[in-house]
Amino acid sequence: MNHPALKTDFCRLVGIEKPIVQTGMGWVSGVELTAATSEAGGLGILAAATLSMGEMEAAVDALLGKTNKPFGVNIRSDTPDAMERIDILIERKVRLVSFAAAPKEAHVQRLKEAGVLVMPTVGAPRHAEKVAAWGVDAVIAQGQEGGGHTGRIPTSILLPQVVGAVDIPVLAAGGFKDGRGLVAALAWGASGIAMGTRFLMTQESLASAPIQDRYLQASVTDTLVTRAIDGHPQRVLNTAFVRGLENAGSIRRLLLTLRSAWAFKKLTGNSIWSLLKAGISMRGRHGLTMSQVMMAANAPMLTKATMADGQTDVGIMPTGQVCGAIDHVPSVAQLLTQISQEAEDVLNTFAREGGPP
Ligand SMILES: Cc1cc2nc3c(=O)[nH]c(=O)nc-3n(C[C@H](O)[C@H](O)[C@H](O)COP(=O)(O)O)c2cc1C
Repeated sequence: MNHPALKTDFCRLVGIEKPIVQTGMGWVSGVELTAATSEAGGLGILAAATLSMGEMEAAVDALLGKTNKPFGVNIRSDTPDAMERIDILIERKVRLVSFAAAPKEAHVQRLKEAGVLVMPTVGAPRHAEKVAAWGVDAVIAQGQEGGGHTGRIPTSILLPQVVGAVDIPVLAAGGFKDGRGLVAALAWGASGIAMGTRFLMTQESLASAPIQDRYLQASVTDTLVTRAIDGHPQRVLNTAFVRGLENAGSIRRLLLTLRSAWAFKKLTGNSIWSLLKAGISMRGRHGLTMSQVMMAANAPMLTKATMADGQTDVGIMPTGQVCGAIDHVPSVAQLLTQISQEAEDVLNTFAREGGPP
């Protein structure tokens, strides 16, 4: 990227060439995708919230063997082993940590003291202000059209609000896929774009070919935001399984959940009792109903069955609405070259002709 507008403060902060982040996505952003993104000049983020601590450690070591470029790791702050995980990431000198759901201040402090960059995702300006006051280095502002757990404010409204609320780099997320989007985000004051769904649809993604086909077939109106999966709003593909959960009463939901838990027991050897125990402890923490609790405990496994094992009939496929505007599955290197080239062309044409190409 030669255009000076594309060398942003976020690029300088992290030490990357392109203001493009591949976000942490459970069962999707593994070692290959993360390494490919960082090697191509962006910032790859390993999804570790869905890995055990041992798996996370092994994946980070594998990444260190594959790339010398900076990369990030996505973890949860609300697990009992969060501080131990953080210590492993500090020891491995990981450049940046992002969080699935809200971070805890103590975790941010520990990472900051060790010189690891911290970049939480926010869905409202007041969340951005809160984490900025804790000293985080950057935030991802994700609009409602984004994939997975998501907020209620569209990107076009949220982004300028967050940029106005904090004086750290803001990465724009929710609906981005190309170079024009990158230039638009920069015009709103962002320091780059962070994309999930677009990277899910690359050759290095862990999502299997049948899953990628389902996303290719989807239109922008084929997604919905549901609380039925784990009690928190989550954008997923609108499938028969999710509609069944949405329309079910609480008893039926519990039965559906037990049935899928039973299917999982057979698939993974996970006992229903272990799901129940996880559920009961989450119930106290988040004030969820029993059926939501069972789903919450079960959701990662259901998502794994769909995303990683290609069982499209299980039917939990987190996605941004942008899936409906994606029609090809490039390699990560091709994608980053396309985005950079398009952004540069748009900026050059503006400068030369005073308007968009
Ligand atoms: C399949 C999938 C899995 C996701 N898993 C996680 C996760 O484990 N941790 C996290 O912080 N965000 C997760 N997200 C959210 C993304 O990291 C990202 O913020 C979002 O996809 C951005 O919106 P976009 O899809 O429009 O690009 C996930 C999103 C998708 C589509």
